[in-house]
Amino acid sequence: MWGPEGLDEVEAELLGPQEELKGKEILEIGAGAAQCARWLAAQGARPVALDLSHRQLQHALRIGGVFPLVCADAGALPFADGSFDLACSAYGALPFVADPRLVLREVRRVLRPGGRFVFSLTHPLRWAFPDEPGPEGLSVSSSYFDRTPYVEQDEQGHAVYVEHHRTLGDRVRDIVASGFRLVDLVEPEWPAWNTSEWGGWSPLRGNLVPGTAIFVCERD
Ligand SMILES: C[S@@+](CC[C@H](N)C(=O)[O-])C[C@H]1O[C@@H](n2cnc3c(N)ncnc32)[C@H](O)[C@@H]1O
Repeated sequence: MWGPEGLDEVEAELLGPQEELKGKEILEIGAGAAQCARWLAAQGARPVALDLSHRQLQHALRIGGVFPLVCADAGALPFADGSFDLACSAYGALPFVADPRLVLREVRRVLRPGGRFVFSLTHPLRWAFPDEPGPEGLSVSSSYFDRTPYVEQDEQGHAVYVEHHRTLGDRVRDIVASGFRLVDLVEPEWPAWNTSEWGGWSPLRGNLVPGTAIFVCERD
């Protein structure tokens, strides 16, 4: 699943035709509980699920699946050059790093020539709107161009959650500067069957503004 709209890889085939995933070595970045890796393994692929959070990987382990789990920073991937055919990430790592080019360059390094990296994140346009599913989420409340990160702190003033904003143009420049070609930018439309609300995502908002941006990148 690429995002709360419900677009899944069976429908989208952004990693390529589903029947060609068999045997492919695929790195999932910011895997969390490794939902994508689990689906990829079920297609006969050979995924590796990577996350910075040991706790998230414990959830992945508990849910199960026969594939390696790697606890590491996406900005310093512990793999040799050219180790994977494909890489993917659903809302993982990239929104949470101050230097996305570091991650993109690392992913490019570990991909084989012709390899594809598909990643989704909150659509940059949403930065300007409050994170509310109802009508209050439909009015611009801050500048789309303000790159100040969103930070939540604990009682001691330590940052416990940090999300970085990049404009759509910033994302395109990051991708190109890291040596990838941008092959597609998918903005899933809200489907009629999806009546659920999740955080700031809802049918009301989803029918008016994009919630997810999916970048399809290839290396030469
Ligand atoms: C919003 S969750 C997405 C999880 C999963 N992909 C999903 O679709 O449910 C973001 C994940 O990125 C991980 N993450 C954040 N920064 C990271 C980094 N620098 N390197 C690797 N993983 C990171 C977090 O630990 C978290 O599990």
